[in-house]
Amino acid sequence: MIGTLTPVLSANWGAPQSWKYDAYVKQGGYEGAKKALKMPPADVVGLVKDAGLRGRGGAGFPTGVKWSFVPQDNPNPKYLVVNGDESEPGTCKDMPLLLASPHTLVEGIVISAYAINCHLAFVYIRGEVLHVHRRVQQAVKEAYDKGWLGKDIQGSGYDLDIIVHAGAGAYICGEETALLDSLEGRRGQPRLRPPFPAVEGLYASPTVINNVESIATVPSILANGKEWFQSMGTEKSKGFTIYSLSGHVARPGQYEAPLGITLRKLLELAGGVRDGHELKYWTPGGSSTPMLTPEHLDVPLDYEGLAAAGSMMGTKALQIFDETTSVVRTTLRWVEFYKHESCGKCTPCREGTWWLVQLLRQFEAGTAPEGGVDKLLDVAGIVNGKSFCALAGGACACVTSAVKHFREEFELGYTTPAWEAFPYERSALFAMDSLGGRA
Ligand SMILES: Cc1cc2nc3c(=O)[nH]c(=O)nc-3n(C[C@H](O)[C@H](O)[C@H](O)COP(=O)(O)O)c2cc1C
Ligand code: SF4
Repeated sequence: MIGTLTPVLSANWGAPQSWKYDAYVKQGGYEGAKKALKMPPADVVGLVKDAGLRGRGGAGFPTGVKWSFVPQDNPNPKYLVVNGDESEPGTCKDMPLLLASPHTLVEGIVISAYAINCHLAFVYIRGEVLHVHRRVQQAVKEAYDKGWLGKDIQGSGYDLDIIVHAGAGAYICGEETALLDSLEGRRGQPRLRPPFPAVEGLYASPTVINNVESIATVPSILANGKEWFQSMGTEKSKGFTIYSLSGHVARPGQYEAPLGITLRKLLELAGGVRDGHELKYWTPGGSSTPMLTPEHLDVPLDYEGLAAAGSMMGTKALQIFDETTSVVRTTLRWVEFYKHESCGKCTPCREGTWWLVQLLRQFEAGTAPEGGVDKLLDVAGIVNGKSFCALAGGACACVTSAVKHFREEFELGYTTPAWEAFPYERSALFAMDSLGGRA
């Protein structure tokens, strides 16, 4: 099946008013939840584990295994927290999913919360996307009205409430433990682990944190069975996922396909790199995942294939850059983002991302000193692996992978400004005046 699109999560996005309860039910919605509520909770955990679903938020941890870590003998309440912070540059899959079909997530929450014996679930949504927040709130209200939330859901005796919470627009609050601090009303900064959230998470109680897409995938597994799910994907990366193509591509957008499809195939489906241009570099899963080049067009886009190629699956945000783009400029923009979003808790990240930006600005301006590339790698080496959370590693990955593939372009920064070697107008996707003169 690899090589074709497999719309499951996105199958109903084109239906009239797809976000409404009636439209969702018409497409088979809530059938998975009906099945789940008739099963013992432990069997639901076992089914998701056997199906082989892995977290779609970045790290790819097996979802059912994570659920099984919740200590059921702990007398505290159990919580489910859905991570909808989605702020990584290039990442844009959860928001379209929530806009087009919020009930897929609500149904997924009913099943997942039931499986772990949770009666209060939270959806943490990135603060800037007010329209998405409103849509999810509306779906939650509809689900209460239709008896899918609240007391004695569909006569099953199971109770569940959902709170939809808006973040305040900080990338670090997507990191699961910073998210918990933020949800508790504190400044969002990562927590020391152990204890892991499954044992001591929200309000020091057992907590499962999963990405929006991970939870939204659960209803289809309940409805269609584990063999159906396993029939897609590769040996260790089962199922389908949403790949988001952006940048210099003819038809950017969401492409739902089996794990293991290649960028070559996805580009074919998306009309290729924009007319008259060729691929220069790309990210497989957002800016934190080391960039790749045309020689990697046939790498299977699954956890194992990308690791073997020296990168990571991440959020499957495939950002496509053609030959008109300055890799120095791209790297600088990304690192400016990480510097801005560094929460400041630990020194290597707080100071190191600032230094990386200062150095990269010199490369962009063509004023970097001879030997500056080694200095850049040196600073990245000091930050990487010596910081508290993965934000810093992401900042370094884009620098080191860019230098690995395009060292000579960085060396050009000793003499030539990036805006001369790669004029903005050639790579910009929008007219310069629409950007206020700055690309
Ligand atoms: C800086 C940073 C930002 C993150 N942002 C998100 C995010 O927006 N959404 C998300 O699901 N996971 C994000 N993660 C990963 C989460 O910490 C966590 O691994 C994930 O929510 C687990 O869900 P999953 O097992 O379903 O993939 C981020 C991690 C880091 C280090
Ligand atoms: S690595 Fe950066 S974002 Fe993470 S805790 Fe340290 S300062 Fe904060």
